[in-house]
This record gives sequence, C-alpha cells and structure tokens, in this order.
Amino acid sequence: MTIYKARRLAFNILKNQYEADLLLAHVLNVSKVFLLANPDHVVDLNMLNEFEELLRRRKNNEPLQYILGYVYFMNVKLYVDNNVLIPRQDTETLVIHARELVRNSKKEKLNILDMCTGSGCIAISLAYDFKKEKKLNIYATDISEKALHVAERNAKLNNVENITFIQSDYFSSLPDIKFDYILSNPPYIAKEEIRTLEPQVKDFEPEIALDGGLDGLDAYKKIISQAKKYLSGSLLLEAGINQAQYIANEMEIHSYSDIFTVKDLNNIDRVVHGLMN
Ligand SMILES: C[S@@+](CC[C@H](N)C(=O)[O-])C[C@H]1O[C@@H](n2cnc3c(N)ncnc32)[C@H](O)[C@@H]1O
Repeated sequence: MTIYKARRLAFNILKNQYEADLLLAHVLNVSKVFLLANPDHVVDLNMLNEFEELLRRRKNNEPLQYILGYVYFMNVKLYVDNNVLIPRQDTETLVIHARELVRNSKKEKLNILDMCTGSGCIAISLAYDFKKEKKLNIYATDISEKALHVAERNAKLNNVENITFIQSDYFSSLPDIKFDYILSNPPYIAKEEIRTLEPQVKDFEPEIALDGGLDGLDAYKKIISQAKKYLSGSLLLEAGINQAQYIANEMEIHSYSDIFTVKDLNNIDRVVHGLMN
C-alpha cells in the first residue's frame, strides 16, 4: 500500500488527518513532510500492520501521547506512558511564572522542590532552562514509584543532572531542607467528577494523578499547611478551574503573604502564589 492510500485509510478510521499522519510518520520513522512529499512510497507489510495496530489503539481512545511515547513541554521532549499524567499546556503557566521568579532572584544558588512531579515536566524543564545560568538544586517527589522511573528517564533524556528524585507521600520522606521555591501541580479533580471526564483521560491516565479527594482540594490543604516548615520563599500551586480562590484563602489562613493568582492563556486563574519567610 502507498503512503497516499495509508493516509486515506487512517483518515477513514480516525477522522483526524493530523493524528493519522503523526502515527504514520512515527511508524515509518520519517517526518510528516516526508509523507506529503512521497505519496507513492510503498509502506511494507510489517509497518502497515504496526500502523493498523496504532490506529486501533487510538480509535479505542488511548491518548495519542501514550501511543507515540512522547510529548513536548516547554523546551523539552519527554517520554510518557500510562504511569504518568500527560503534561498539559496549563502547567506551562506555572513553569513560566517559576522561571521568572528564578531569573529575578538575586541568589546564585536556589533550592527548588517540584512536589507531585509525575513525568518530571516541571522540574526538568526548569533545570534545562537554567543549565548554564544559575545553580539550581532541585528535588522532585512523587508517591508513585513508577512515575518516578519515568521522571528519572526524562532527566537522562534531557541531560539534566541536578535533580534528586524521592518517593514520598507529600512531605513525609523529604529531608529537612529549606526551599526557595516549592512548585506543585497536584491531583485536583473531585472524586465524583473523574467518571465524567473524557474516556481518554478517565480510562487511561493514572487515577492517582487525578484524584483530589471528595472536593478535589485534599492535596492543596496538605501542601499549603505542610510546606510552611520547608519553605523560605514562594509556593506556586497550579489550580483547577474555580479552585484558585479557595487556594488563596487557604494560604491566607496559614499566614502566607504576597498572595496572588496568575491567569493562563484562556484567562483562567491557573496558578496561585504565596510567600512564606
Ligand atoms: C496532576 S499529576 C501532575 C504530574 C506533573 N507534575 C504534571 O504537571 O504533569 C499529580 C501527581 O501527583 C502524584 N501524587 C498523588 N498523590 C500523591 C501524594 N500523596 N504524594 C505525592 N505525590 C502524589 C501522582 O502520582 C501524580 O504523578
């Protein structure tokens, strides 16, 4: 079968040419441009079978990123599988803000904690950005051992060596360190809401990465109260829709100062900042 026919076949199955082309290019190990430039190129039978298997998985709602095995986040390419949440564009808002804080800091050396690291996207993209500029001493923690394996793999893929990975239930196994910045995108979906999410999320992404307890706010309560002991600087938390006000109030109750929110590209309050000195 030619590339032209394979692309048509895939479109008929997925009704999405963009995804079909990404999958075909992935199987053939070529660029998408190659597909357009070589419609008469013949796809051999083994590759065609592999392509059909990937189409079947995608048709079955498996996220494209798990099938391809990678995702781009900020300035890094990350390996992903179903042990980790697929990094979202929303979380880039948190990283962009953290980057500004790091850049504007007068300190040459900074201790940073990425709590609930998952794929490692926050810790690794920051480490990658400041590789040549500042000395960052980054800790990245997660309760999931499997997620930590993915994060460690991603640190290697991106040649960053200044991240210490620790398996920890929030702060429970963390050494006694004072951090300049604690960053977190914790699980924040209310338990009941999980089953209403689209199949490619609820059926494939790890429940532990989504489940924020009955009201979705469990992780925020724990992190805001426990971070005080470890923080001499800023706490930055990613917020779900309509959660920012609650997070800001909780920070106020726990005597954080300089509390403000940062909006994402859709004008949603996405990150809450609080200071603890
Ligand atoms: C929403 S995901 C975020 C992953 C990644 N930081 C990102 O932004 O894509 C939340 C992560 O929190 C972890 N997690 C859940 N409960 C935890 C706990 N009690 N302590 C530490 N990490 C936890 C999950 O394993 C998951 O990797």
